[in-house]
Amino acid sequence: MTVSETESLSSSLATSLRTHPCGALRAAHVGESVRLGGWVHRSRDLGGLVFLDLRDRAGVVQLAFGPDWSDAATLSSAAAVGVESVILVDGIVVARAEGQRNPDMPTGEIDVQVTALRVVGPANTPAFPVAPAKGDKLPAEELRLRHRYLDLRRAELQRNLVLRHHLMQATRRFLDARGFLELETPILTKPTPEGARDYLVPSRVHPGEFYALPQSPQIYKQLFMCAGYDRYFQIARCFRDEDLRADRQPEFTQIDIEASFITQDDILAMAEALIVELWTVGGVGTPPSFPRMRYADAMERYGCDRPDLRYGLELYDATAVFAASDLSFVKAAIERGERVRGLRVPGGATMSRKQTDELEQLAKGAGASGLIVLKRGADGLEGKVAKFLDATAADALALEEGELGLYVAGPDRISSPALDRVRQAVAQRLDLVPADGHEFVIVTDFPMFDRDPETGALAAVHHPFTAPHPDDVALLDRAPERARALAYDVVYNGLELGGGSIRISDPALQARIFGLLGIDEATAQARFGFLLEALRSGAPPHGGIAFGLDRIAMLLAGTGSLRDVIAFPKTTAARALFEGAPSPVPPQDLHDLSLRLAVRGGDA
Ligand code: AMO
Repeated sequence: MTVSETESLSSSLATSLRTHPCGALRAAHVGESVRLGGWVHRSRDLGGLVFLDLRDRAGVVQLAFGPDWSDAATLSSAAAVGVESVILVDGIVVARAEGQRNPDMPTGEIDVQVTALRVVGPANTPAFPVAPAKGDKLPAEELRLRHRYLDLRRAELQRNLVLRHHLMQATRRFLDARGFLELETPILTKPTPEGARDYLVPSRVHPGEFYALPQSPQIYKQLFMCAGYDRYFQIARCFRDEDLRADRQPEFTQIDIEASFITQDDILAMAEALIVELWTVGGVGTPPSFPRMRYADAMERYGCDRPDLRYGLELYDATAVFAASDLSFVKAAIERGERVRGLRVPGGATMSRKQTDELEQLAKGAGASGLIVLKRGADGLEGKVAKFLDATAADALALEEGELGLYVAGPDRISSPALDRVRQAVAQRLDLVPADGHEFVIVTDFPMFDRDPETGALAAVHHPFTAPHPDDVALLDRAPERARALAYDVVYNGLELGGGSIRISDPALQARIFGLLGIDEATAQARFGFLLEALRSGAPPHGGIAFGLDRIAMLLAGTGSLRDVIAFPKTTAARALFEGAPSPVPPQDLHDLSLRLAVRGGDA
């Protein structure tokens, strides 16, 4: 906390029960009578003298109890009070003696000599220590999630949630200053096409019908544009029933933004400025604008649409070199029109067989049939397939001595994700990721559609309301999978912070896109009729973006898990351990909802 924040907290937190927050006391308060309230953080009984560290949101202060200023009852209550109990004290701020000062504590120059103590919230022995001894590991996360109220007392989580608060307030200030209106949208709504499963809520009054929780406020924000609220934002709770990872929660928060009469460049300029502002709040400097990269280039150079630019290891095309080899499986792939792509790893020749085997497993896990591993030693190429390549291959592959070359043969849709995984793993293993790297990139020109290789069906890469690139409208009928969209993602250190698009504002074009997605007219009307009607009733050009607030808070807090920046998160099995959700409901409740269980739930 900065000095000015401490000062303003100090006066704004004063109440009839306390004069100051604990962590706000300084040498300037010496001689003052104070009244404090807080949690007993640590206690030390030196026989005759008792010290309690008293903690509140603002920090920790040392309370001193001694026979010269505390009466016998106060002294014995201080010795007896358990850690994590809530106490109220009266006392006088005194300067600590030379040698007793603690420069590591903001309140380390003073003590509060306590004259009266009241235990107002006695605590049972906590399930785990909120103030562990130095060097002690945190208890298992499951235990901490079960007792979240205790875990939330830890300084680290408090810092994270305070940061989250500051990020939310900065977002509101930033957008309000630019004319964006904070408008709310429903939580009980209709399914939203963001690609995940919906959480459904049965309706009691309409048996057999369900609300869906919003995967995003996408349709509503477009309706606001059609209604003339030309700049909208919302710090919006979204719900997606999808496979969870450290950077995904079933319930998460978006900074959701939409504007009318704008172009992609307008949105992106505003989005960059917001991110710069939020990174400043997080204490991290950023460039004023971020490089742009087309989706096709990102896939070609990194095999991934959210490339981590903190390190090199760019991919390149080695098809010509392998076409001249005697490797029959590679030649067959090339004859099928596929390519051989790979990366060069400086210093990678030191990697062991076990390590390169692990890389191959990663590539196979992503669908590749294998990984070609070549090392350039002093005498040329080494590796299982080296003998199938001629003497010029090392130079043709541009492999220098000591370098490792890793290649995948196959269609790009397989080699890209495989090489992306390999690239990331190599960077981790060889410690190539600078700890203080901050690399932003805005990826543009995403394709409109993905074609399912098995069924041939098209799916929207962003969502079905995304406008095609104006140069590619003609491709929609001929080769829709080649059509680009006016869609973009903001990427930071290999993570997607946010994404958005310019929307379709022409109802005829929207109907055409639904058609390409296999959504027939009746279904389009049933699912999105209200949006189509709005588009037919005077729709301005509009577009927007949504950022993952939890992800931003996680990155700026320097943690690797969303659970560290969400007050009451879910586990990776989508359970809330503290509240015990989800939970079975009494048969009567099911009956009232006209529901009957076909299967009895078990623990996930
Ligand atoms: P999208 O689906 O890309 O776009 O989501 C926007 C951002 O939300 C965050 N995010 C998540 N964060 C935590 N847990 C999750 N399960 C999760 N899913 C998404 C990511 C992501 O970049 N309506 C569009 C936006 C638009 O077009 O304006 C949308 O929701 O940081």
